[in-house]
Amino acid sequence: DLVDKAGRRHFMEKEIHEQPESVARTLSQYISAVDEGFTFPAGELGLKNADRLIAVACGTAFYAGATAKYWFERYARLAVEVDIASEFRYRQPALPQNGAALFVSQSGETADTLAALRHCKENGVRTIGVVNVPESSIAREADVHLRTLAGPEIGVASTKAYTAQLSALACIALAAGASRGVMTAEETADKVRHLLEIPRLINEVMQVEPKIEELARALTRHKDVLYLGRGQFFPLAMEGALKLKEIAYIHAEGYAAGELKHGPIALIEEGTPVIVTAPWDELFEKTISNVQEVAARGADVTLITDAKGAGLAGDGYNVVVMPTCDPIAQPIVAAIPLQLLAYHTAVFMGTDVDQPRNLAKSVTVE
Ligand code: G6P
Repeated sequence: DLVDKAGRRHFMEKEIHEQPESVARTLSQYISAVDEGFTFPAGELGLKNADRLIAVACGTAFYAGATAKYWFERYARLAVEVDIASEFRYRQPALPQNGAALFVSQSGETADTLAALRHCKENGVRTIGVVNVPESSIAREADVHLRTLAGPEIGVASTKAYTAQLSALACIALAAGASRGVMTAEETADKVRHLLEIPRLINEVMQVEPKIEELARALTRHKDVLYLGRGQFFPLAMEGALKLKEIAYIHAEGYAAGELKHGPIALIEEGTPVIVTAPWDELFEKTISNVQEVAARGADVTLITDAKGAGLAGDGYNVVVMPTCDPIAQPIVAAIPLQLLAYHTAVFMGTDVDQPRNLAKSVTVE
């Protein structure tokens, strides 16, 4: 029954709705629910005294790594360089002398990511694999294998593997922060409690689905969609755009909100759809001023935010209200509306959602 759609139309739909469980399962691999302490061998990661971490991956896994950069820097004061595996491996990268390399992969078989891992190992860099398929090459070859427990992901477009990767990476970043003395025990415990709330918050955010379906119907008329985000929502904007391209075949770009005026604002016309992910945080006002800039030029803005953000944003936008959550939970919870938006748009378009044209679940050749 591992490959059963459980009454859903597509595996992707099933996998989106499985995320409360797949995230909970993954978190339980890292956190003890009893005393809210870490249960994985964080000391073996070599991050305590590291001066640099490189994070290498492809596709959606790359965006998980790109989000984790914000966490490692913020919570562990650890410099992170994120790289697309196909770029990293051929660039003659300057490897960390006193650091580690992190490889994020659902399948554990992506050719470029595996080659990048081997390159690091051959050059004496400690390698950490965050992998969903435990018997895969990357899981076996990494010095340390940290699991995501998303379970088998059948839909080619990654959903539950992504949120499992984010969940694991959040734990790793917090554990690194604790070992490096950046986070106090209380601060760490507080963040851990917020992580443990994510499965419930994902359940709650599913309630936006009817609203998202409405927005998806409108998206089918468009050829270009712009996704915006700032800070930790910038990688999520790119991931949201990737989902829409992959399964709905609509051109989409994810941009850092602050870069808007350096190019993409030139594309805005009357009715151009702009999807903004901005739950309230210290950058919210800055993002909203970008939203006002595109709205003033006729963009049809969908704002994915929380109650506080919705109250501050003003009128004139399609607002999708997600539950209020701690900053560390926000990008994980906010991923769900973006997945649902791509999914329902693809369903309206009548594409092959689980097996989109030209794409493979695992890219094992260059
Ligand atoms: C392919 C899949 C994506 C995935 C990427 C990386 O492009 O279609 O969903 O994100 O490969 O795969 P990996 O197995 O390394 O996470």
